[in-house]
Amino acid sequence: MNEKHIRILRDLGFNDITSEKMTNDYWKARAADALAITTQDRDVYGCFDHTRGEGVIIYDIEGKEFLDVTGGVAVRAFGLRYKPLLEFESEIHDVIKELPGMDFDAIPQTLLAEKLASITPGTHKKRVVFTTSGGRAVEGCMKSAMDLSGNRRFVAFRPAFHGRTGYALSLTSTNSKHKNKFPQGVDVVRVFYPYCYRCPYGQNEEDCNLECVEALRYALQVEGNDIAATVMEPICGEGGLIVPPSKAVKGMYEATKEIGAYFMSDEVQAGMGRTGKWCAIENHGVIPDYISMAKALGGGYPLGASIGPVPMYTEGSRHSETFSAEPKMSLLSLWIIRQIETGGYLKKNAENGAYLLKRLNELKEKHEVVGDARGIGLMCGVEIVKDKRSKERAPKIRDRIVKTAVNKYNLLVLGAGPNSIRFTPSYIITQEQIDEAVSRLDRAISDST
Ligand SMILES: Cc1ncc(COP(=O)(O)O)c(C=O)c1O
Repeated sequence: MNEKHIRILRDLGFNDITSEKMTNDYWKARAADALAITTQDRDVYGCFDHTRGEGVIIYDIEGKEFLDVTGGVAVRAFGLRYKPLLEFESEIHDVIKELPGMDFDAIPQTLLAEKLASITPGTHKKRVVFTTSGGRAVEGCMKSAMDLSGNRRFVAFRPAFHGRTGYALSLTSTNSKHKNKFPQGVDVVRVFYPYCYRCPYGQNEEDCNLECVEALRYALQVEGNDIAATVMEPICGEGGLIVPPSKAVKGMYEATKEIGAYFMSDEVQAGMGRTGKWCAIENHGVIPDYISMAKALGGGYPLGASIGPVPMYTEGSRHSETFSAEPKMSLLSLWIIRQIETGGYLKKNAENGAYLLKRLNELKEKHEVVGDARGIGLMCGVEIVKDKRSKERAPKIRDRIVKTAVNKYNLLVLGAGPNSIRFTPSYIITQEQIDEAVSRLDRAISDST
């Protein structure tokens, strides 16, 4: 961190901060003392320098350079400090930021709502409510589905990740740590996510009769079908980077429609063009009633959107959030969408994603512990197993690989689920950078097994 930024911190009253204290250990200890949580392991990741980095290159506080394939957990569509975005940001620096977008009308959030309605699947009339997080984007849809249907129960999957607060947490099932001793906010009928590599019904792809869809029908028959909505991730992200077959997603949609319930696609991680379509559910040929978006939507700022059918809520004031869709955030979001459109990023993400998956499949061929490689567009991953024949999950080997990749090979990468490794890079990643990232992962796997 340069002297200017150290001075800024000192000017903010932290006179103890000096360049000598710019070490990972010092700041990790201070963070551990001050912050209630970090979802990642401080043994693996350093303290990142918030003042440096460009594109997919990020630095820790000691100046160590990393190649980033996390994209800030799918937040940074255009990487770090994307020059055209910085220029736009400075052009709008004098825009009023302090208008609560869901309390009073202003032009930017109206335009953004119109734009989101037009790029999301389906030509039906939609309405949008803005939020400041992915979990709340899910909850805005859930409240609407309850409001419009009069039903209180949801269908959700195992595994599934939809957030860690309130109603969204009720749908989540990726890790008992998230749920133990917290109340179940809404009632959920839970069925297995379509996970062909580990079909919960013991089927192979060849003799699959969509047992997972029949399991949903059966659950609705015996547990009751007073369902507000089925909530599904079009690609299961946190749960292990699982790509469901489209016929199963369609089957879940049809089973939902048979009982007159709404279908919702949680696009918080997979949406915003990442898979080569605006919404990942489009890859499955399904038009959902509800869509939740966040992460890349805000151009780096906390912006989420719940998108649903008209009228969305039976009356005004049924739902709101103070810090949502303030004008600057909305303008930045409109800029991101425009950039994806004019820069041809849907096509690029599909192409670069196919290339990434091809390279990850090479790792599968090469390493006994890489049981599966899967993904759509720039949302790909590998599943780590003891060996290909047993498919036994190998969480410890996965953790070792991630730690080696980060610490030894300077590849900033994340796990997903108990034993997968996930790539959700920024859209500006090049094929050369993909090659470099895969090569670093390759070496980390070799070293760890
Ligand atoms: C599919 C999905 N839904 C919801 C969320 C929750 O988003 P947030 O952490 O912004 O509340 C996440 C976060 O990773 C997610 O991947």
